[in-house]
Amino acid sequence: MAEMMWAGRFSKQVDAGVNAFNSSIAFDGRMYRHDIQGSIAHATMLGDCGIITREDSLTIISGLKEILADIDSGKLELDPNAEDIHMFIEAELTKRLGDVGKRLHTSRSRNDQVAVDIRLYLRDEIEEISALVKELAVTLVKLAKEHTGTIMPGYTHLQRAQPITLAHHLMAYVWMLLRDIERLSDTSKRMNYCPLGSGALAGTTYKTNRRQTAELLGFTAPMPNSLDGVSDRDFCVELNCALSLIMTHLSRFSEEIVMWCSWEFKFIELDDAFATGSSIMPQKKNPDITELIRGKTGRVNGDLVTLLSMLKGLPLAYNKDMQEDKEAIFDAVDNVKLCLKTFIPMLATMKILKENMRNAAAKGFINATDCADYLVKKGMPFRDAYKITGTLVARCIEKELTLETLPLEDYREMTELFTDDVYEAISLETCVRERKSEGGPSPDAVKEQIALAEKALGL
Ligand code: ARG
Repeated sequence: MAEMMWAGRFSKQVDAGVNAFNSSIAFDGRMYRHDIQGSIAHATMLGDCGIITREDSLTIISGLKEILADIDSGKLELDPNAEDIHMFIEAELTKRLGDVGKRLHTSRSRNDQVAVDIRLYLRDEIEEISALVKELAVTLVKLAKEHTGTIMPGYTHLQRAQPITLAHHLMAYVWMLLRDIERLSDTSKRMNYCPLGSGALAGTTYKTNRRQTAELLGFTAPMPNSLDGVSDRDFCVELNCALSLIMTHLSRFSEEIVMWCSWEFKFIELDDAFATGSSIMPQKKNPDITELIRGKTGRVNGDLVTLLSMLKGLPLAYNKDMQEDKEAIFDAVDNVKLCLKTFIPMLATMKILKENMRNAAAKGFINATDCADYLVKKGMPFRDAYKITGTLVARCIEKELTLETLPLEDYREMTELFTDDVYEAISLETCVRERKSEGGPSPDAVKEQIALAEKALGL
């Protein structure tokens, strides 16, 4: 095993098991680009501030760029025995440059290095995830535009409640996703302060220029407190919260897709490329993707609990417990991306079975509120109208009829206010068309919110 960089104080090599236990390169190796980016900014600043010579600064920078190119091309492989990505790159630099390489770590600690790397890494990931969430929202808006007239039952308690349209239902998710995008952007903004220059915890005696490194790395400003700089991971928690909410939204939608694919609903049919079969039951076409998304939501929530529990008892400043942040937040980020990338084309290719939606809406008395409203419009107090309609529904159930097929005599037995026009008033089309309150399901109202969403999405 190569000698550890901190070997000076030690008289023995570290135990191999301990080394493996302690090492984080297996999971922090993915931040190599960001580690090098941070080191280049640091070396530039060291040179500009005269802490190292300009010549050494330039040599270090080109050495780092070469390492980056070699890792990118696969010429240089990460050493699984290295303690972490920061040590690996510094060791490689020294291997290549000799003494000059050893100057890079002047006035810097791995503690501020890791804090800067995760921020840079997550900043990129947030951008990628936001773009995917946006793509999903755009897909839904497109579908919604095709289905402003597709009537389906709206549910409460999973009981058919009132008529809505598929567009109205899909748009509900678009608004959730738009808030998700906003949450991601808020997190990114709050996270975008630079810890570099915090040192191990107590800053440095060198005359560094933290504003320069912050600016070079695209941060808004340096973090104002060095202890906070190296020991805060609240941005990981905040991001994981935003990711958990994205997953919650995907999971609720997934649950609906699972139901909509069942023979009991049959509202949609998934494209063959986005469903799976059974090893034993030849008739099966299973919505595995949506079930996996539902399942992975638990896992992303677990990552959030990992982060919160890891942080809760830690004294300031850095503690090795914090190395556990990366596996959790990376797992959350990876899984959200995986889910979005599969969910989007699955939705875009699914077949909508409009007739079945319409037929489901025709059963279950979802126009009962409209029947009561009909009487209210003729002057009856709502509570009385409600009671009469309830009695009519009971009569329909008894006679195996619907409100649309119940004879007018039955209506008029309850009150003479009912006339022939009741059938028009309780037709599903009327029920939907008249629900034109702002945010409601009428095609006109939904078109208005589609226009708003399109604006928010920059379409
Ligand atoms: N691998 C460590 C981490 O992920 C880097 C920081 C190590 N700092 C230290 N003082 N041991 O947190």
